[in-house]
Amino acid sequence: MEKTIEQINQEALNELETASDMESIRALSVRYLGRKGIITRFLRNISKLPPEERPIAGKKANETKKTLDKIFKDALDRLETATADATDRIDVSLPGRMVLAGSLHPITQINRLICDIFTNLGFDIVEGPEVETDYYNFEALNIPKNHPARDMQDTFYISDNIVLRTHTSPVQIRTMEKQTPPVRIIAPGKVYRCDSDLTHTPMFHQVEGLLVDENVSFGDLKGILTTFVHRMFDEQISLRFRPSFFPFTEPSAEVDILCVICRGKGCRVCSQTGWLEVLGAGMVHPALFENIGYDTARYTGFAFGMGVERIAMLKYGIDDIRKYFDNDLRFLRQF
Ligand code: DAH
Repeated sequence: MEKTIEQINQEALNELETASDMESIRALSVRYLGRKGIITRFLRNISKLPPEERPIAGKKANETKKTLDKIFKDALDRLETATADATDRIDVSLPGRMVLAGSLHPITQINRLICDIFTNLGFDIVEGPEVETDYYNFEALNIPKNHPARDMQDTFYISDNIVLRTHTSPVQIRTMEKQTPPVRIIAPGKVYRCDSDLTHTPMFHQVEGLLVDENVSFGDLKGILTTFVHRMFDEQISLRFRPSFFPFTEPSAEVDILCVICRGKGCRVCSQTGWLEVLGAGMVHPALFENIGYDTARYTGFAFGMGVERIAMLKYGIDDIRKYFDNDLRFLRQF
């Protein structure tokens, strides 16, 4: 009888030797110590032994049960700490996890570059609302009621009197209303026009510029814009001013830069002209000063407006403006 419990004990220990995971140790524990386990059954059968053998067999079996239980528990504990250690440890041989960093949208980058260039020249940055009244978007800018720019085709009307601003020029008026000269500001922001093709999107970005002071001349305008173009592109890029018309400037000019692609030789981008149109500009029309209440005998000023997407397309050599708004990461990651 004693031999049998000894045997059972030895078999259990042998089996434990080969049990390598917690699962099999638990199964082993059930097999020997569970309710229908080998040792439990042995204990139940003690009553069938001759009376003189019962006490010693019972004692032996209970002791074995206790020690095996402890041995199984210890084995489980050891495995548990071992696995915990392994998961805590850093495997320095593993490849690093790739961190996907975001980046600034190319339009934001160019916008910031434009703002940097002008703030370095002493201009302040101001902003105005994108939902604008007819007065600021048109009337105060000397754009009469029958002007083509008011055509329903170009302007998004919210109501008779409220529009999505079609340009950043209304910020000129809002600034001058609040401020007396000298005024030296740029106004970056979104503008909206009902237009969509290779070079137009219904929403795009402009930067407006305005400088008002005593003795401001067209030469000052030329100097500032030349400096801007040299810093934005490079010193080799020359400018040319073409007479033009805007209701809010007189005289007005459209400003071309030497084609940044072919440098004047003529290519597809500049339609073989060697020049690219990048800006509208001019001397502030006295009618604007009268609307605001500036002394037209004392003050003169210049203004300009440029499209940010246009500048970005030229700077990066991109031929389809819509790429900026498709949100295709393969495109955007290049900047
Ligand atoms: N607002 C004009 C446009 O959107 C651009 C412009 C032209 C702005 C001449 C000016 C300017 O300030 O003087 O087409």
